[in-house]
Order: sequence, then structure tokens, then C-alpha cells
Amino acid sequence: MKDNQPIYLPPPRPRGKISLEEALARRRSIRDFTPRPLSLSHLSQMLWATQGISEPLRQFRTAPSAGATYPLDVFVVCGQNGVENISEGVYQYNPEEHTLSRHLAGDLRRELARAALNEAFIYRAPLNIVLCVEYQRTTWRYGSRGERYVHIEVGHVGQNIYLQAVALGLNTVAVGAFRDEEVSRVLYLDKDCQPLYIMPVGWSG
Ligand SMILES: Cc1cc2nc3c(=O)[nH]c(=O)nc-3n(C[C@H](O)[C@H](O)[C@H](O)COP(=O)(O)O)c2cc1C
Repeated sequence: MKDNQPIYLPPPRPRGKISLEEALARRRSIRDFTPRPLSLSHLSQMLWATQGISEPLRQFRTAPSAGATYPLDVFVVCGQNGVENISEGVYQYNPEEHTLSRHLAGDLRRELARAALNEAFIYRAPLNIVLCVEYQRTTWRYGSRGERYVHIEVGHVGQNIYLQAVALGLNTVAVGAFRDEEVSRVLYLDKDCQPLYIMPVGWSG
């Protein structure tokens, strides 16, 4: 596969094994991960819950967004053998196509962990979902109030990730403690793109 070719993710499944109530009751921040890789279907489901299209006609997504301005960009920092059939690297999720495109090559989990106050669980997890924002997409419409909206929105997305992880038997934790500039540098983010949340995802031992 060429680097610039999109990776087509399997379609998300419309049904899970546990109820929403069970997922809510079981949701916990878990920081314990084994190296067991995720399947591409698991990653697909996690990304659909993160920012996937749930209403194709209007291109609305699984999480609400102020004015449907959708300011968030989703990156996956995938470790070596983190996901079956995907090489280590940083990928960007494209919600419209439900695809991944390669942003960077190499296993950058250690660098990411270093930027996040050396939290070992970040490099132990097979992958980390990094939620980033381009504020302008929301603030052009709502002015400085848009910054508040973006921060609320990322919380909605974080909860989607938690609940989908529970439903798949996976673990995650929302991480807000990191040095923004260092994460931006490690991930080669555009200057208008700021990291807001890191969410390691994987199985526990
Ligand atoms: C905005 C926010 C930032 C957080 N940042 C971190 C973090 O940097 N590191 C961490 O280990 N947990 C972090 N957490 C997870 C909390 O520690 C966790 O939600 C809390 O201990 C309650 O546990 P529970 O999620 O299992 O209910 C964060 C949670 C939120 C909502």
C-alpha cells in the first residue's frame, strides 16, 4: 500500500453487545494496557463513535457540534502492532469517507508520552486517539464564545469514546495533562491545529 492511499475502514456496526445503561454503569478511566493489537473493525468502531457520520444526508456526526461547525480533527497515534494490518504511524481520520490517511510514519508513542508528563500508559496502549481543534471553524461564527463551545464539544466526543470503548470491552482514559506545543511538535500539527485531549485505547491484561 502506498503511503498516500487512504485506508478504507470497515463499516461501523449498528448494534453492540451491551446496553447504553450498562456502558454508562461500567465506564471507568482505566490506565492499564497490554500490547494486544486492535482489529481494524475495532478501530473503525472507535473512530465512528469519535466523529463518524451518523446522518449522511446532512453529514451530521455521532457527537453534537455548535452550529454543526465541526472544529475537531482526529489523529490516531498507532504503535508497532497496535492495529492489525496497519503499520505504526500517525493517521488522520476522515469522517466523510470513513477512511484513514497516513500523516506520519513511525511509532511516536514514546514521544507522545514524554509530551504528556511521561505517562507510561500512553506508550503502553496500542494506540492513542488525539483530539485536536481548529478554533476558527467555530469562532468565525460565534466569536470568542466559540472557544467555550469547542471545549464543551470535545467533552461530548470524549464521552463517546469512553462509552464505545466499554461496549467493545476496551479501556481508555481522557488525558488533558500534556504540553501543548510539544504534542503539536511531535505530531507535526498545522499551526492552526491545537491538541485538546489524548485518549489511549487498548485491552487490559
Ligand atoms: C478534562 C479531564 C482531564 C483529565 N486528565 C487526565 C489526565 O491528564 N491523566 C489521567 O490519568 N486522567 C485524567 N482524567 C481522568 C480523570 O482522572 C477521571 O475521569 C477521574 O479520576 C474519575 O474517574 P472515572 O473516569 O473512572 O470516573 C481527566 C478527566 C477529565 C474530564
